[in-house]
Amino acid sequence: MKHIDVRDIFEDKEYLGKTVTVCGWVRTARDSKNMAFLALNDGTTLNHLQIVIDKNAGGVLPAEAGKLGASLKVEGVVVENVNDGSPEINAEKIEVLGKCPDDYPLQKKFQKLETLREKPHIRVRTNTFNAVLRVRSVMAAAIHRFFQERGYVYVNTPLITGSDCEGAGEMFKVTTIGYPEPGKYQNEEEYYADDFFGQKAGLSVSGQLEGEVAAMAMGKIYTFGPSFRAENSNTLRHVAEFWHVEPEVAFAELPDVIEIAEEMIKYILRDYMEKCPDELKFFEQRFEKGLTEKLRNVIDNDFEIVDYTDAIELLKKADVDFEFPVEWGCDLQSEHERYITEKVYKKPVFLINYPKEIKSFYMKQNPDGKTVAATDLLVPGVGEIIGGSEREADYDKLVAAMKARGMNLDAYKDYLDLRKYGSVPHGGFGLGFERVIMYATGMANIRDVILYPRTVGSIR
Ligand code: 4AD
Repeated sequence: MKHIDVRDIFEDKEYLGKTVTVCGWVRTARDSKNMAFLALNDGTTLNHLQIVIDKNAGGVLPAEAGKLGASLKVEGVVVENVNDGSPEINAEKIEVLGKCPDDYPLQKKFQKLETLREKPHIRVRTNTFNAVLRVRSVMAAAIHRFFQERGYVYVNTPLITGSDCEGAGEMFKVTTIGYPEPGKYQNEEEYYADDFFGQKAGLSVSGQLEGEVAAMAMGKIYTFGPSFRAENSNTLRHVAEFWHVEPEVAFAELPDVIEIAEEMIKYILRDYMEKCPDELKFFEQRFEKGLTEKLRNVIDNDFEIVDYTDAIELLKKADVDFEFPVEWGCDLQSEHERYITEKVYKKPVFLINYPKEIKSFYMKQNPDGKTVAATDLLVPGVGEIIGGSEREADYDKLVAAMKARGMNLDAYKDYLDLRKYGSVPHGGFGLGFERVIMYATGMANIRDVILYPRTVGSIR
């Protein structure tokens, strides 16, 4: 008999009274003289299905079926639990698909997230990871739907690249010949000429530059793929490999970019709340009290837009001893971002118009000569989840900004051509997928919202 998903048994009353086959792993087991009860989970829902073995009625619990982690195939009749009305199965036949010895690492009691991190292949079987992975999947689909419904074209930008988008020197190298010995070659170009690509190459930190290429043809595009950063920062919100959503829109200025970002965040959170009520309840109970209300407030209210210069004034006036001092021109630290979004506005905040020195070369230079039309979206609890900007569309200004940063213009020839051949105002942003998952679930550590986190010193 074909097996039925446990999720369907919970959602569909039509199975009541019918004989079905279900499969899954044993989460808890209770055995006594007359009765035995198993909680079976097949991953399709957070709900465990109770399997009832009535020994007086001839039911048999096979020796290996009562072990935590064992995988079973169970045939029986679906009935309603007399206490809470949830479905359960009166087992008629239990087949052990895979035995599970007593050293199975997931014991019944709640385990710390730190402990679970050491066994990613096992932690994925916990309720927490079941919920996290389902929310990731639902939100990824929502992101695609949001852009597709609005006519954006999904573009796949290269992961191996010759140009560093953010210019922060955080690219992982890609080489088949290794790294040059210091002092042996005149320059890196000479050394890498023999390498696979005939030049130095790395893993992309962002698909933006190629995304702009596509937007200058298709108008509205988005990418959704991995980005890589060799940042040596061991924090709760950095991983070396993260999933990056990057829309890029022709004929868009900074206010348009902000509007799209706000609309997208609200859309994907609303979709998550609708499609994952069980998961949301679980996160609310286990990880963040008030999560549902927080998300509802985000969906129902306008985000704040605050000028960087005003934010600096707020921070200077703040009655807080910041670890890093605040001056106009400084890059905001996590403590500053959190103060602004958590203490002052208590909601998502778009900070705009940053000093040009602390931002990337491609950002549109404002008429004041000091700032660029950039924006970061800061949210309470997580900090920055989006970074974006209007792009500098003027060839001469762009070249000047690149030269000021000592960049090799030859490596960006295609990019500069965009400003030569029919340049238009345009802009876009990058959303860190894991960061928005943290925000939506209340998980405090980015390592706990991705299957196999890659961080400094850790590549299990
Ligand atoms: O602010 P970032 O560096 O912006 C860009 O890469 C632009 N090229 C995006 C664009 O305009 N198309 O990164 C964008 C977002 C950040 O706000 C953050 O959410 C996420 O990417 N991010 C990371 N997430 C996890 N781990 C890391 N190491 C991350 N670095 C950036």
